[in-house]
Amino acid sequence: MITDLLATKRDAAELSGEEIRSLIEGFVRGDVADYQMSAFAMAVRINGMTDAETSALTAAMVDSGDCFDRLTDRPRLDKHSTGGVGDKISLILAPLLAAAGAEVPMISGRGLGHTGGTLDKLESIPGFQIDLSAARRNEVLKQVGACIVGADASIAPGDRRLYALRDVTATIDSIPLITASILSKKLAATLDALLIDVKVGRGAFMTSVEQAESLARSLIRVGTDSGLPTAAILSDMNQPLGRSIGNANEVNESLDVLDGGGPDEVRELTLASAEILLVQGGLATDVDQARSVLTRLLDDGSAMEKFQQMVHAQGGRLPERLALADAHVITAPESGTIAQIDAIELARIVAVMGGGRQKVDDVIDATVGLDVHGRVGSRVETGQPIATLYQDGEPDVRYIQRVHEAIVIRQQQVEKRPLLIRRYP
Ligand code: URA
Repeated sequence: MITDLLATKRDAAELSGEEIRSLIEGFVRGDVADYQMSAFAMAVRINGMTDAETSALTAAMVDSGDCFDRLTDRPRLDKHSTGGVGDKISLILAPLLAAAGAEVPMISGRGLGHTGGTLDKLESIPGFQIDLSAARRNEVLKQVGACIVGADASIAPGDRRLYALRDVTATIDSIPLITASILSKKLAATLDALLIDVKVGRGAFMTSVEQAESLARSLIRVGTDSGLPTAAILSDMNQPLGRSIGNANEVNESLDVLDGGGPDEVRELTLASAEILLVQGGLATDVDQARSVLTRLLDDGSAMEKFQQMVHAQGGRLPERLALADAHVITAPESGTIAQIDAIELARIVAVMGGGRQKVDDVIDATVGLDVHGRVGSRVETGQPIATLYQDGEPDVRYIQRVHEAIVIRQQQVEKRPLLIRRYP
């Protein structure tokens, strides 16, 4: 009886693998009602799960749908980020890994609330298709080596339906549920190795290093136990990643990095992620060798060429730069050092300008956004540009005021913040 399974979890006892599988199968078939599954999610949120239970939940969600085919013997690699502000690493990493000889079947998401979505950013490229048929996806992977697509209904439908319930029952922030949700989609993509970038800080899902570490360790244990070698990094999200927050402006910044330039921290996080994956995938003997290969691929145009091929194969027409709304420069009201850049607040400004979604069916304006000129610890002089707001016509003074409040300048010396906090294992 389903109520017996719910009572077991309510009383913080352990469910067997068969019990968890029957629950997910019943849910996908329609025999387990949404209210029963919501009760299950809440019991897990409160009482947690053992790793064995989380592995069983992950496997049942993978088996609720289809898995990607494999047509080549290139190592299949991917990275998943837990989401942050200005995080455009996937756009650069997928073609870079493909240029290094890997296959990257990246399933990405859309933005909601203050977090941006890789799919929304890519859709700011005219014609770019994120929904590919299985046959087309296979072709793109074979020819280009990388594709970035949405999770269609055939991939882990158990997770898709459970996630929709978690979203409205205050059960998103459960480490076992997040672990099973992320890994089920990655296992369905039949990867050989996975890197998780757990963002930590004010602009992230996980605000403390302790929470982020628990999630990283859970993903590594359950991923590895499920046959997918999984590594993780913890990276700082107390300030936006790189310069741009938005959609088209984030693609432009990614093009800068693919062209061998761009902000140091975006290039560094891309290289640090890619080098771990190349070693995991057997494409490099150690991270130093991986880094020298990857640096060359960014600097000699190979990664850019792969990005162009991927965009073309997914129907996109890539101009040299994507057009943005009118630019309005915001200047420093006083000299000093940048002490804080409130990532969440800046992302909220972009979202209300139309660059993000408040509701799932909102349509995004890809041309609006914000660029921040400087990082925590940067010295600025009065009148120097600290941000650029992209909005057509006269800029809204309320947004400019909010940008000033979000970028705090102080007279005293402020330390730069480290970007990479931890690497596992
Ligand atoms: N991303 C996912 O795919 N699932 C979660 O549960 C949380 C973040």
